[in-house]
Parts: sequence; structure tokens; C-alpha cells
Amino acid sequence: MKKVSLIAIDGPAGSGKSTVAREVAKRLGFLYIDTGAIYRALTLKAINEGLDFGDKEALIALSQRTDIELEDSSDFLKVYLDKKDVSEKIRMMEVSRKVKIVAALKGVRDNMVKLQRRLGRTSSGAVLEGRDIGTVVFPDAAHKFYLDATFETRAKRRFDELKKKGFGISLEEIKNDVETRDKTDMTRKVAPLKKAKDAIAIDTTNMTVEEVTKKVLWIVKSQR
Ligand code: DC
Repeated sequence: MKKVSLIAIDGPAGSGKSTVAREVAKRLGFLYIDTGAIYRALTLKAINEGLDFGDKEALIALSQRTDIELEDSSDFLKVYLDKKDVSEKIRMMEVSRKVKIVAALKGVRDNMVKLQRRLGRTSSGAVLEGRDIGTVVFPDAAHKFYLDATFETRAKRRFDELKKKGFGISLEEIKNDVETRDKTDMTRKVAPLKKAKDAIAIDTTNMTVEEVTKKVLWIVKSQR
């Protein structure tokens, strides 16, 4: 089988991993895979169908009959749920609040990981970002990073990002969301967010996107 060059970038919400992963992928001509968007799309479908979020079996069954596609357009990542563009809708607060329930289910993750592995392996090179890429999805990825920043910085970044997109949410609401999501993502039984032993940690608190991007690219080059 052909050897695919894979870059895994994990980290908590607001660590800067999405922006950096996308930029790194662009500069290397690699495919960019936002795995959080995949869990968000599935959560949106569960909301749209009025599913009971306490019904694990229904959520797992839903993950089996859902088609999710990612397309990297020039401006932003497009996310298609059953062929419909949901790129904006998956950023809604209701999705942010409920995604942790969906992402904590093993049956759901098994299906989503299969999709992520297929996308990565069939590319000629990919940058995948999420919570468990270096630990579960591609533990043998050639390059692994773990991005982090202080809680205040991460909450402020999320706030600015959503404000720019026109969502009217207070900084307090964002802080609550980021805090509870961090806690659930890090303490769940299946694929919790943690740094892979062989991942390189980068504290992005006082760094610009350009600085982090350059650092990642420099490390990737030196590991080749
Ligand atoms: O990166 P994000 O904030 O868009 O991710 C949304 C949620 O999806 C996050 O709170 C946890 C979950 N997620 C996950 O469990 N595993 C991944 N590989 C990516 C995201």
C-alpha cells in the first residue's frame, strides 16, 4: 500500500488547531480534515430529527445512516450532511452544547473513526485535527502535535471567532461551554483528549497563527 504522509494535530477547543491545521494543509498541498466538524454534523442531524440525546442506541444507529462529506473551498471548509451544506449551522451554540454527548459514545466513534481513516488513507497527504487523532485514529501518523493555550485565551478566541460569524453569544456563555466541553472531552471513557506520548506540544497562548504554522512546518520538514 502507498505510504500516505499524515499530520495529526490534537488539542482542546480554542487552542488554534483548526486555523493552523488548515494553513499547514494549504501550504503543503495536503487534504485538511476537521474531525470536530464530523461530530458536529452528526449532532446537528440528531437535533433536526428531534432525537432524544439520552437514547444511545438511536444516536449510534443515526451514525450508521448518515453521509458526511468535507470539501475545502478557498475561503472555508464546507461540510455536507446528507448532501446539504451545513457549514454554518454546525457552529450553532446548540450543537456546541450537545456534541459532547454524541462524541462520548463508542458506537458513534467507531463509525466516525472509520470515515476519518478512509479520508486520510485515500488522500496523497492529509492534516487531521481533533481530540484523538494521534492517540486513536492514526497512532502511527508520521507527525504529531498537541496544541494548547490558557483557558482565558482559548475562550476569547472562540468568542471572537463566533462574533465574526455573526453569532450573538456572550463571553460568559462561551466560557461555560468551553469549560464543560473540555471536562467531558478529557474525562470520557472512550478516546479522551490527551497528548500522545510522541506528540510535540506547542503552547500557542502568545503566538500568532503564522508563528505556530511556521513552527509546525519546520518540525515536519525536520522529521522527514
Ligand atoms: O473541534 P470542535 O470544537 O469543533 O469539536 C467539537 C466536539 O467534537 C468536541 O467538543 C469533541 C468532539 N471531538 C471528538 O470527540 N473527537 C475528535 N477527533 C474531534 C472532535
